[in-house]
Amino acid sequence: MRMILVGPPGAGKGTQAQRLVDTFQIPHISSGDMLRAAVKEGTDLGKAADGFMKAGQLVPDEVVIGMILERIAKPDCAKGFMLDGFPRTIPQAEALDAAMTAAGVTLDVVLMIEVPDALIVERGVGRRNDPETGRIYHVKFDPPPPEIADRLVHRKDDTEEAITKRLTYYHDWTAPILPLYEQKGLLRRVDGVGTPDEVKARITATLAN
Ligand code: AP5
Repeated sequence: MRMILVGPPGAGKGTQAQRLVDTFQIPHISSGDMLRAAVKEGTDLGKAADGFMKAGQLVPDEVVIGMILERIAKPDCAKGFMLDGFPRTIPQAEALDAAMTAAGVTLDVVLMIEVPDALIVERGVGRRNDPETGRIYHVKFDPPPPEIADRLVHRKDDTEEAITKRLTYYHDWTAPILPLYEQKGLLRRVDGVGTPDEVKARITATLAN
């Protein structure tokens, strides 16, 4: 299974990916997680990405495309992958398409998680990430156990200002890739409002079709 998860910031892409990887037994490849790891490690890639990310802007295509194409060429992706956060622009979608064509593989599905803009800021501002397990929580919708509260991280780009900017970038740059996949008959839309388990059930039903 080769799939892309797409949706606005805070739609629940990471939350659902964590629930779906066990089902499909394919690697979850999050461009945001890879970039955050590079920033933490202080690599050249991380230094190039840091300022853009903090401000809620997109990291330049040339930085992200190389990073992801290198990742999906690794042996653990031979039977499939779940891309989360990539592609996010038309040049990224075109680069992915060209690389997959050259590798002789095809995409199975592009899953769009739809959440109204009005819910996005609350989801992001309340998000907390566990650096030890990678688990994503929300202070109100998916509260963490009190004993791990001290180690949880609040992402630098989860301020109201940065989330609003990320949402604008989503509408201006990422939404335009959806027609490309719609034309190919690959796009499936899933309502992302409801509990994470309800959304997962909708995704599972959609993928079963
Ligand atoms: P990235 O990390 O990809 O961020 P994003 O797309 O903005 O998505 P998020 O991680 O914010 O949200 P999500 O949909 O995964 O939601 P989650 O499951 O956590 O990118 C960050 C930055 O990196 C970008 O701004 C950019 O700078 C750079 N970047 C990354 N990829 C790039 C690319 N390809 N090109 C250029 N730049 C790139 O859920 C959010 C919260 O809601 C959580 O607290 C969760 O608990 C809660 N929640 C989830 N589901 C539900 C539900 N059903 N009900 C209630 N709460 C829920």
